[in-house]
Amino acid sequence: MSNTSLIYKNIKLYRILMNLLYFGKYKKRFNDIIKLFNTKITSVNELCFGDIYVANFCKKNNIKWAGFDINEDFIDYATKKGYNAKCQDIMKLDNLPKADICIIAGSLYHFYDNVEQVFKLMLNSSGTIIISEPIKNFSSSTGILGKIARISANAGKGNETFRYNKKSFIELIKNMKNKFNFDYRIIYEKKDILIIIENDRN
Ligand SMILES: C[S@@+](CC[C@H](N)C(=O)[O-])C[C@H]1O[C@@H](n2cnc3c(N)ncnc32)[C@H](O)[C@@H]1O
Repeated sequence: MSNTSLIYKNIKLYRILMNLLYFGKYKKRFNDIIKLFNTKITSVNELCFGDIYVANFCKKNNIKWAGFDINEDFIDYATKKGYNAKCQDIMKLDNLPKADICIIAGSLYHFYDNVEQVFKLMLNSSGTIIISEPIKNFSSSTGILGKIARISANAGKGNETFRYNKKSFIELIKNMKNKFNFDYRIIYEKKDILIIIENDRN
């Protein structure tokens, strides 16, 4: 992980940069996800969790949380706070533990060339999947925010320039729905798109 972006080496730096890109509203991403939890939820898997806002909420509400991320520094921060965070390349997983909900936020673009595998993992583990993904991005913009967005997306495989936009994201979800047969609901489409998927495999 030594060649990751600087912001991936420290969660506090990561928060500062994300707040810059989200005009101070980075935490809202997680609050909007949490609002979709119903009162019966007892367990959550969070893929590429990065930060611990959801973990925090789960702890306070007696919900079992498991986080998976490839970034050792983020894992270190989470485990030192007492959270069940596993250092794991999710592309190397055959299965996830069963959980009521599986979340992936701000991260699906890392897997655009293997996204079907990520969907399979999530759908096999949970009846409810929550995806929050940026669809309006600075990474293709000129100027300082564009530069920051581009150089801050190296999770270990080099600077990644691929991002979804509204059209390509909706196309992806429709393809996945055809392949895996699930229902989905778009909660909103703003800078990020937030969707909830329900499937009856679990
Ligand atoms: C842009 S950050 C998003 C973090 C957080 N979910 C958020 O919404 O701010 C992307 C996260 O994906 C993780 N990641 C990238 N590739 C991964 C992989 N193959 N397996 C597990 N985690 C990965 C990175 O380490 C990073 O924490």
